[in-house]
Amino acid sequence: MELQPLPPKGGDHNLNNYEEATQQFDWAEVEQAFSFYETGKVNMAYEAIDRHAEKADKKDQVALYYSDDQRDEAYTFADMKKMTDKAANVFQEAGIEKGDRVFIFMPRSPELYFAALGAIKVGAIVGPLFEAFMEGAVRDRLENSEAKAIVTTNDLVGRVPVSELPALENVFIQGDDVKEEGKTLDFQTRLAQASENHAITWVDREDGLILHYTSGSTGTPKGVLHVHAAMIQHYQTGKWVLDLKEDDVYWCTADPGWVTGTSYGIFAPWLNGVTNVVRGGRFSPESWYGTLEKYKVTVWYSAPTALRMLASAGDDIVKHYDLSSLRHILSVGEPLNPEVVRWGEEVYGLRIHDSWWMTETGAIMITNFPSLTIKPGSMGKPIPGVEAGILDDQGHELPPNRMGNLALRTGWPAMMRTIWNNEEKYKGYFEFPGWYVSGDSAYKDEEGYYWFQGRVDDVILTAGERVGPFEVESKLVEHPAVGEAGVIGKPDPVRGEIIKAFVALREGYEETDELKEDIRVFVKNGLAAHAAPREMVIRDTLPKTRSGKIMRRVLKAWELDLPTGDLSTMDDD
Ligand code: WT7
Repeated sequence: MELQPLPPKGGDHNLNNYEEATQQFDWAEVEQAFSFYETGKVNMAYEAIDRHAEKADKKDQVALYYSDDQRDEAYTFADMKKMTDKAANVFQEAGIEKGDRVFIFMPRSPELYFAALGAIKVGAIVGPLFEAFMEGAVRDRLENSEAKAIVTTNDLVGRVPVSELPALENVFIQGDDVKEEGKTLDFQTRLAQASENHAITWVDREDGLILHYTSGSTGTPKGVLHVHAAMIQHYQTGKWVLDLKEDDVYWCTADPGWVTGTSYGIFAPWLNGVTNVVRGGRFSPESWYGTLEKYKVTVWYSAPTALRMLASAGDDIVKHYDLSSLRHILSVGEPLNPEVVRWGEEVYGLRIHDSWWMTETGAIMITNFPSLTIKPGSMGKPIPGVEAGILDDQGHELPPNRMGNLALRTGWPAMMRTIWNNEEKYKGYFEFPGWYVSGDSAYKDEEGYYWFQGRVDDVILTAGERVGPFEVESKLVEHPAVGEAGVIGKPDPVRGEIIKAFVALREGYEETDELKEDIRVFVKNGLAAHAAPREMVIRDTLPKTRSGKIMRRVLKAWELDLPTGDLSTMDDD
């Protein structure tokens, strides 16, 4: 089944002819859209905020609509310039300099955005942390990156093991009644008192911008470093894929703790000068539909799990909201079921456009452009300026319809520049010269559409969040009752996958529901709620290789009732 593009709602699309754009495209031309093209002075925050604030016809446009159950605020581009200048001054006064790592660990709020852009204005590298992270997860990331400062809240600061982090000099707390002592600084008061003028730090386009930690199948999370030059692709995909125009009201539902919430929740919309909606608090169908209605959102970027949750809330609830402003809906993070695309068209009268990319790629790589015929279930085609391919395990490109490793020709602007403190891991992505290998398996059809098949490794995608099994297993075995643990992703109709743990108990422990719950809560409190196993099976032993590695592949085969494959390396005594 193919779905021909719907006629554009409200004018032409920014990309009307994909084939033509692909043939002619050159990234260098995009640079002309930025002020640094003429001035040679680079800073993401300048291009995203200050440039618009300097324009008489732009400065009073709302840049940020923020709401949650307590707050409801709007900030123009001029306001954003002022607030981010203030934040930059707060950081500068505390001695934060170009290249320092400044972490941001707080729930969504306007201050989160001021802090992130303020840190970028002084040339610091921002490390966003999802608010659900618990102490162990926070420590790993701050330690690995030798963070110099963190901005957090009274509620969350208890999860920052300050005394164990020698490099950490400043702990900014956003909130009322913060007492300054030792490393603790009162962010709110300092922000209020700071000067509104800041001399921005100009950087090199290859200087560090943001550090996102993400999971692989082995080891602790990897710090994926992106640089200011990523703006070229953030801007251009904002145009082509999100189809942003300057009068759009855009809502990306992702939290800035994840890359979607920064690349497409901060950079792409503001580089394109559009009004950006941020909704804080928890998900509910009412609050989400209410947000679309209240702000007359035109472009909406979300994720399959959220869309499936909205679908299961039923079609009736949609009728209580006026969603007529919507003109373009997109999805990212996990496979978008054809069923959800069909449902979207039925209830919203619009198609949901899939997009594929990764923390490492920094920006959208493969997608269903609004002007492209959609094949539901396919992720679409590579953006102009990006070449994709399917490789066999020796690095040879495979012909259409053969499943293999989804890879990308190196050299796009938003590509990560390193894995922090781990050059080996970074090199691991480039085992075949000229290619970045994604870790996903896919095939491409005769017409150049890409079809996602799964992960090549054991990485779990649960509710759109990427969880490394090793991290969960390591936490599980820290529990006094757990001897061994193996963790897999189990297919789930709403969350895509859920985390399922196989656990062998230590001598002297008996399986009880209380113990299983205790182990689950232990992981939740140690890492994060989304990393805690939703299902747990206790077994006497786990399948292991002779070298002692737990064979997740076998656990998965058990779970799915599949053949276990080659067990020749399994230790069976
Ligand atoms: C992994 C990357 C940057 C986007 C948010 C997730 C999976 C991503 C799709 C899609 C099927 C997808 C892949 C990828 N993924 N988009 N449209 N269809 N799978 O970023 O946490 O770095 O995860 O998410 O497996 O490798 P991430």
